[in-house]
Amino acid sequence: MAIVLMIISVPSFAASFDDDGVLRLVNREEKITKNYDPDDLVKPDVPVNKKNQEDQIYLRPAAAKALEEMFAAAKEEKGYVLLAVSGYRTYGEQQLIFNNKVAQVGSKEKAWRKVAPAGASEHQLGLAMDVLSENFRLLNSGFLDTEEGKWLYENCQRFGFIVRYKKEWSNITGYSAEPWHFRYLGVSHATAVSKLDIPYETYASKARLLPEYVLTHGNALLLYALIENALYGDGALFEEMLSLPAETLEQQAMNIVDMTEKVLPEGLTLEEAVLSRGTW
Ligand code: DAL
Ligand code: ZN
Repeated sequence: MAIVLMIISVPSFAASFDDDGVLRLVNREEKITKNYDPDDLVKPDVPVNKKNQEDQIYLRPAAAKALEEMFAAAKEEKGYVLLAVSGYRTYGEQQLIFNNKVAQVGSKEKAWRKVAPAGASEHQLGLAMDVLSENFRLLNSGFLDTEEGKWLYENCQRFGFIVRYKKEWSNITGYSAEPWHFRYLGVSHATAVSKLDIPYETYASKARLLPEYVLTHGNALLLYALIENALYGDGALFEEMLSLPAETLEQQAMNIVDMTEKVLPEGLTLEEAVLSRGTW
C-alpha cells in the first residue's frame, strides 16, 4: 500500500498538453499564441554566460529548481561550471531574434534551420534553457565535443530535461543540432524520452492520447513501455491503459501499479522500478 500512497501523493505540475502544462508541445505546426505569457516565472539561482543575460534566464518554478539541481550536480560530481544563456522569451523577443537571424543569414529558409519564428519557440513556455559552460561559451555544435556538453547529453534527464534537437532528428524537428537547448518535462517523461531516444514530437504524438492521471503520475518505466508499445509494438499495452476504469484516485493508482507490474524487468521490484529513474 505504501507504494500506492506514494504514487497518489507525488507532487504535480499540471501535467498536460494544455498551454500551461509541462508537456505542451511547441513547434512550427503547433504554435503558442502571441499572448501566452506564464505568470509564475522565477529566476534560477545559477551563473550566466554574459552579464546582460541576467534578465533572460527566467523559467517556470519547477524548471528553475531542476536547472539549479542540474548545475549543482555538474559542479559536485564533475567540477563543471555550467552557464545559463537564454530561458523564457516573449513572443516579441522571439520575433526580434528571428528577424536578426534572417538579416544575418540572408534568407528566411536558412534562418528557419536555426531559430524558431515567433510563436513557435518553446522558450516562450518558460520551460526551455540554453546552457553552455565556462570552458565553451558559443552556441554552436562544438559544445557537444566538450566534456560538459557530453555530461549534459547523458545526464539531463535525471533532472527532468531532454535534449530537444539532435542532428539525427532534424527532418522531424526542423532544426539543426542544438546541443545547448534543454527542455523541461519532469523526470518521468524526460527519462522515458531519453531512454527511447526519440524526438519530442514522436513521443508527444502518442503520450497526448494517454489519460491525464497517467501523464501526471505515471513512472518513467511505465511511460517508456507504453510509448514504446504504441510506436513499435502491437499497441495492446497502450490500448489496455486507455481502457481501464479510472474514476477514483485509488483506481488510478492501482492501474498504474498493475500496468507497471506487467512491464517490470526481471529481478526488479515495483518500488525499485518506480524509483530507479531509468536505470532498469
Ligand atoms: N532555437 C530554437 C529552435 C528556438 O528558437 O526556440
Ligand atoms: Zn534554445
